[in-house]
Amino acid sequence: VLSAGACAASNGATAPSAAPGKSGAQPPAAENELIGAAGIGDPDFPADGNGGYDVENYTLKLSYEPSATRLAGTATVRARAIQGLTRFDLDLHGYTVRKVTVDGSPATFARKGDELVIDPASPLVKGAAFTVAVTYDGKPDPVRNSSNLGTYGFIPTKDGAFVTSEPNGAKTWFPCNDHPADKATFDFDVTVPSGLTVVANGEMRGAPVTSGGRSTFSWREAHPMATYLATVTLGKFHVKTGKSASGIPVFAATDPAYAKSLDQLYAISAKVTDYWSTVFGPYPFSSTGGVIDDFSAGYALENQTKPMYGGFQPDQGIVAHELAHQWFGDSVSITRWKDLWLNEGFATYAEWLWTEHTGGQSADKTFRDYYSANDSEMWRYPPGVAQREDLFNNSVYTRGAMTLQALRLKIGDDTFFKLLRTWTDQHKYGGATTTDFITLAGKLSARDLTPLFDAWLFKPTRPTLQ
Ligand code: ARG
Ligand code: ZN
Repeated sequence: VLSAGACAASNGATAPSAAPGKSGAQPPAAENELIGAAGIGDPDFPADGNGGYDVENYTLKLSYEPSATRLAGTATVRARAIQGLTRFDLDLHGYTVRKVTVDGSPATFARKGDELVIDPASPLVKGAAFTVAVTYDGKPDPVRNSSNLGTYGFIPTKDGAFVTSEPNGAKTWFPCNDHPADKATFDFDVTVPSGLTVVANGEMRGAPVTSGGRSTFSWREAHPMATYLATVTLGKFHVKTGKSASGIPVFAATDPAYAKSLDQLYAISAKVTDYWSTVFGPYPFSSTGGVIDDFSAGYALENQTKPMYGGFQPDQGIVAHELAHQWFGDSVSITRWKDLWLNEGFATYAEWLWTEHTGGQSADKTFRDYYSANDSEMWRYPPGVAQREDLFNNSVYTRGAMTLQALRLKIGDDTFFKLLRTWTDQHKYGGATTTDFITLAGKLSARDLTPLFDAWLFKPTRPTLQ
C-alpha cells in the first residue's frame, strides 16, 4: 500500500530513470510510460523500491537449511498497477531465480544489479490487481558495511539466521518493493529442520507442522508493514508467551545463550507496551514482544511486533526505544529516509520519558545535559535531513529527541502529548513526512513554530535556548 507521502515522494523526486549520467538507466518515462521506474523516488536511495505498482501482500513460502546456508522458495507478491505496465521491477539481491509468473502465466525476466526486471506475458492495465510469483534459491548474501550500517538483511548464524533489514536489506531474502513508502501485509510459511523455531512478525497461525524431520511455521502480519521491518529470524529459541496486564498478547524468545534473560525480556516488553499505550495512544498491532539472538549485530531493530536484540541483553531503555518505534516508524512510517528523525528522534525521546517514568532523571534534565555538552559534531549535523552516508548519526537520535523537548517547552505538556497521540492516530498504518509533523504541531498549538523547527532540525549550529 502506497502512503500519500509516497506519491509526493515520487512526484517530487527525479525519477532514477531520468537521472543524468546514470549508466544502465532506463530511458526517460515519457518515452516509456509503460515501464515501471527502477526506484520508488527516494532521492537519497534512487535504486530502492520500484515505481508503477503498489504492493498489498507478500506471501513468503520459504525453507532454510542452516547447514547448507541455503534459502529456497516462492514469494508471491499481490499488487496493483498504478500505471500501465509492460515491464516492472522487484528488488532482489543474489539468488538464482528459477521462475516468474504474473497472474499464473510465465513471464520473461532478467537480473540487472539488485533489480529483477519482469516483462509479463501481457501488459498490465492501470489499476489492475495482479499477482507475481517468484521461485528462487541460493545462499543469502546480507549487506555488509555499507557506510556505517554494519551487516544487515538475512544474516546466517551458526544455528539459523538473524533477520533485520533496515534500511534496505529485505531484498537479501525476498523480492520486494524495498522501501517504507510501500507497506503491505505479510504471510509467512517457513520450513526449517525440526528443533528450530521460526520467529516472524504478527501472530503464529496454529502450531508448527512437522513431518520428515522438518517443521513449517506459519505467521501472519495483518497490519501494513514496511519491508525493512519483516523478519523470519530462526534458530534454537526458548519462547515465552502470554498477555500483558492490559491484555495485549506477548511473544518473547531468546537464543539458549540468553535463556536467563527470557523472563525479564517478556516482563519488560509487556510493561513498556502497556505504558506507551497510555502515552502514545492505543497499541497499533495485535501482539508485542521481542527476540534476543546470539548474533552480535551491535544494534537492535524495531521489527514490527518483534523487536530484535542482536547479541546482548537489552536494558529497559532499549526496550522502551524499540517498542516506541511500534508507534513511531512501524505504524506511522517515513516515506523518505531523510525524515528518519521521525523514527529515531521520537524513539530516543521515549527512552528519556521511560527513565523519568521509572524514577530516573527527567526528560528535561536529559535535554539540558545534552544541550550543555559540547558536542560540536552533533550541532554540525541537522537531524531533519538524515544523510544517506550517515543515516543513523547520533544527531538523528539525540538532537532529534531534543527537538521534541524544545517543542514541548514551547507548546506545553497538554498540547505536546495531544500532538503525539493525534500524530499516531492520523497516520496509523500509513506514512508521513517531517512537513506533516510541523504542520500538525503548528495547527494544534496555534503558533508559528517554523523558527523552532528550523533551528532544531535544519541548521548546522546549536540553537539558542529561549
Ligand atoms: N532502527 C534501529 C534502532 O532502533 C537501528 C538500526 C540500524 N541499522 C543498521 N543496519 N545498523 O535504532
Ligand atoms: Zn531506533
